[in-house]
Amino acid sequence: MTWDFLATATEAALQAGALQKERYGQPHEVEKKGEINIVTEVDKACEALILGLIRERFPGHDIVAEESDLARTGAEYVWFVDPLDGTTNFAHGYPCFCVSIALARGEEVVAGVVYDPLREELFTAERGSGAWLNGRRMRVTQTAALIDSLLVTGFPYDLRDDVFQALRVFYRFMSEARGIRRDGAAAIDLAYVAAGRADGFFEERLHPWDILAGGLMVEEAGGRVSRFDGSPLLLSAESIVACGPPLHPRMLEVLRDLREHPEKGRPAQR
Ligand code: IPD
Ligand code: CA
Ligand code: CA
Repeated sequence: MTWDFLATATEAALQAGALQKERYGQPHEVEKKGEINIVTEVDKACEALILGLIRERFPGHDIVAEESDLARTGAEYVWFVDPLDGTTNFAHGYPCFCVSIALARGEEVVAGVVYDPLREELFTAERGSGAWLNGRRMRVTQTAALIDSLLVTGFPYDLRDDVFQALRVFYRFMSEARGIRRDGAAAIDLAYVAAGRADGFFEERLHPWDILAGGLMVEEAGGRVSRFDGSPLLLSAESIVACGPPLHPRMLEVLRDLREHPEKGRPAQR
């Protein structure tokens, strides 16, 4: 039997999501990976479950997964797994987290799944076939002006190294947009842009497992995805701007202006 990539990603995401839902709200074993970067036993259990299914069906594929340091063999297909995106939320009982799984062939992401188990929302995308929320086609918004936009974003775990640096971009977009939300799960942020619930997403210093699935969703929902300087995201995916087509040049303009005039990222002294 030949297994379907998207079906496997979906099955793995649904199983891991079910585990998250079952364990949500209970006490957890919390380990610190850094000062504010944590991992729970549920992250690890979800990752084991997802990796087990992928390895069983596609033993020749490579896997990049957040909680495991796996060797790459140069395989044509590579899976990117975030077993639990929004770990801080999950550990605190804040109801916003998901599973995110992407598959790349060569340099191109070909399939992506994001599953929010509490809302039972399954976001899927396949290159060339569109993006779907529980089977319904998703479309990004056509919002053209930042002042009419609702943006979503997040902050990296190393933000305490230089809090001001992390806030510069936030400050600029906050000054231009109608509103900004920081929900704590980058994959959900991107899925919401694809679904038209938010107009745009920006964030720096992410990892490929955070954003490759959601990035494909935004593209397949008719949106644009790039790095902060407008160049293609690529699989190394770090900084990202994702939004509807009319907003993309506006968001890049803000970032270019900030690069050229860093002093504009500083709130005025009162
Ligand atoms: C984090 C979340 C958060 C983002 C961080 C990510 P994790 O992932 O997506 O929204 O701001 O940069 O690292 O650790 O919960 O999987
Ligand atoms: Ca993540
Ligand atoms: Ca994670």
